[in-house]
Amino acid sequence: MRTPVSIVTGSAQGIGRAISLALAKEGAKLVLVDIDEKRLESVGREVKKIGSKPLLVKADISRFEDVERIVKTTIAEFKRIDILVNNAGFCSRRPLSEISESEWDRLMKVNLKGTFFLSQKVLILMKRQRRGKIINIASLAGKIGGIAVGADYAASKAGVICLTKSLAKEGGSYRINVNCVCPGVIKTRITSSLSKKMIEGYKKAIPLGRIGSPEDAANAVLFLASKKADYITGETLDVNGGLFMD
Ligand SMILES: NC(=O)c1ccc[n+]([C@@H]2O[C@H](COP(=O)([O-])OP(=O)(O)OC[C@H]3O[C@@H](n4cnc5c(N)ncnc54)[C@H](O)[C@@H]3O)[C@@H](O)[C@H]2O)c1
Repeated sequence: MRTPVSIVTGSAQGIGRAISLALAKEGAKLVLVDIDEKRLESVGREVKKIGSKPLLVKADISRFEDVERIVKTTIAEFKRIDILVNNAGFCSRRPLSEISESEWDRLMKVNLKGTFFLSQKVLILMKRQRRGKIINIASLAGKIGGIAVGADYAASKAGVICLTKSLAKEGGSYRINVNCVCPGVIKTRITSSLSKKMIEGYKKAIPLGRIGSPEDAANAVLFLASKKADYITGETLDVNGGLFMD
């Protein structure tokens, strides 16, 4: 099989880093995208050690012109896009009554608008190729609403889950699979502000008895990006240790 060309957004740390390293181990040609140039370069070096030569793109996915540049640069370098992982995002923890208009706008621009327009541009190319896989990173909060996280964050991730289904319907007849992963509580920068007491509370509530690792989430992405998931589309895969089951 041809080496898949894979774009991973938010790849400079956390879940995106783990996804990038996992795809590199599978031999993928990687396009690593992040707003944080320093950390991006560091992950680029890790990927090189595995044997893949990544293309690094410093970009803010909330900016339409950056989204266009990500796609253009990838095509100029690799001629095609086989896998897109929309992982870049951030979390808010503001009480509902305190969320300002500018905070709402910024969060929606990154978590939902960025995911939407990058998927839109990539889907056009994948349709021409008549093949491709898109994996969106949503969140448990997008299913159950915000508890430890803000209502704005939960709403953005609910949007990502629904967008996944629309994209899956659009891409199905072109053999394009679109799925999403819903992480629960994963040990990254996003959860680093949670108190010890909260973490202990989660551990008690999680049937598998532990907080997830970035690699736990990356493994789910790897599966959805693989041939083994060729007959799965529009699906939401929970990676939460059993914290929530539906
Ligand atoms: N950690 C968790 O418990 C958890 C749970 C559910 C969902 N998620 C989701 O997983 C994804 C990854 O989160 P993480 O925990 O690894 O967080 P993280 O903060 O460790 O990493 C996020 C990365 O995205 C990048 N990024 C943020 N905004 C960007 C932008 N506008 N353009 C380009 N890059 C941008 C950051 O620079 C960072 O490198 C996010 O979408 C998050 O909402 C995380």
